[in-house]
Amino acid sequence: MSENKQQATWGGRFEDKPSDLMLQIGESVSFDCRLAMYDIECSRAHASMLEKVGILNNLELKSILSGLEKIEEAIESQDFKWRSDLEDVHMNIEQALTDISPEALKLHTARSRNDQVATDMRLWFKDACVTIIGNIELLVQNCIEFSEANAQVIIPGYTHLQRAQPVPISHHLLAYVEMLVRDMNRFSNVWDSANVCPLGSGAIAGTTLPIDRLFVAEKLGFVDDEGEPIITQNSMDAVSDRDLFIDFANACATAGVHLSRLSEDFILWSSSEFGFVRLPDAFTTGSSLMPQKKNPDGFELIRGKSARLIGNTQILFTMMKGLPLTYNRDMQEDKLPVFDSYDQINLMLKVTAATLKGVKVNESRCVDSVSDPLLLATDVVDYLVLKGVAFRDAHHIVGALVKLSETLELPLDALPFDQVKAIDERIDEDWVSVFSLERALKSRKQIGMPSFEQIASQISVLKERFKEC
Ligand code: ARG
Repeated sequence: MSENKQQATWGGRFEDKPSDLMLQIGESVSFDCRLAMYDIECSRAHASMLEKVGILNNLELKSILSGLEKIEEAIESQDFKWRSDLEDVHMNIEQALTDISPEALKLHTARSRNDQVATDMRLWFKDACVTIIGNIELLVQNCIEFSEANAQVIIPGYTHLQRAQPVPISHHLLAYVEMLVRDMNRFSNVWDSANVCPLGSGAIAGTTLPIDRLFVAEKLGFVDDEGEPIITQNSMDAVSDRDLFIDFANACATAGVHLSRLSEDFILWSSSEFGFVRLPDAFTTGSSLMPQKKNPDGFELIRGKSARLIGNTQILFTMMKGLPLTYNRDMQEDKLPVFDSYDQINLMLKVTAATLKGVKVNESRCVDSVSDPLLLATDVVDYLVLKGVAFRDAHHIVGALVKLSETLELPLDALPFDQVKAIDERIDEDWVSVFSLERALKSRKQIGMPSFEQIASQISVLKERFKEC
């Protein structure tokens, strides 16, 4: 054997060592080392299976398992020396194991790095989804807390960023809770898709050796609700499927878009123009030049990072779209966007939750902003509809009233009644009773609408659901 001996996994048929540049472009251990614990778990299960089918004897298994334990300890205590010349996490661990226990030369029997990395990643995805769902739950709790603490505050709801109709601020926040609950479902679906074991698919076409795929799957926890193991059904698909990566990155991107929209709302609300809220000092920054500034950097960065999450999905789609079956080395690049999306979405969720805890609502600014009777113009339309006026006609009549209020430079509810009556005689003097926020919200009493009663009952359902988080 030549100097390639250190490349024990594939060095046999080579005369020359890989160039330094090849090592540089080929290494992934700098980022896939975070799969180490999953890789060790896979190797434990695989070795136990090899012993079960008689490929390893019990002593060999014991030696491999104790070697893996030592490696695990070394990694945990950061004493493990990662070598980029060994390319990836799999070869680093296998090489270290072989140094400790020569029996490890048998460990890679009936296994390829192709099904190994697919399995490691599926284990990683399952944990990743659980962590993200936990962080979403925390944010949901904070949204609920915010809604309860500001239960009586009413603000204008906006369409086209123009004042539209009054809504309790809690209704606005609970809209985000709906999005976040859907996000949780998306991650739970990703968890389900990840819960299928590809190990045993080998490089592309399985193996001639008498392995036991179900045993490995069960050992690694790829099981259904009844505890039955779930395994992939096509070895070629199993080593080259990256749908899961795309689904995960998409779930992160969608959650990121929700956080970005929430951030944008709070950025607007904290501006002097709106003035509905004050953001906590801890999540804002000052200007090096303008002493009066308090900038909403935390929320702005969340908005910015959401672009990065969308970009990560694009990387994965673009990387996969032209690849012939099955494994191609391009796919080594799949981990960077996925890890990045995971890191960023967790940070974004934590920052949003923590910021929300410190937000103070400026109630008087909110009261001022909903005092404009124009916000209840639609309710005047409804008033006319209840008097039997056709909706289109009613809309037109109220449009004329709005025009009159602009012409006379008077608030809508202060128009002289004779001029109001002149626009449509079906309007009675009691029309001004429409201009009550309390009445406006109280009447919106059906499921999904912003009456205080509806919101309170939604909050109690949500609190029950999320109380154990
Ligand atoms: N580090 C590789 C990756 O992440 C592992 C699979 C390598 N397979 C191969 N045939 N070179 O994709």
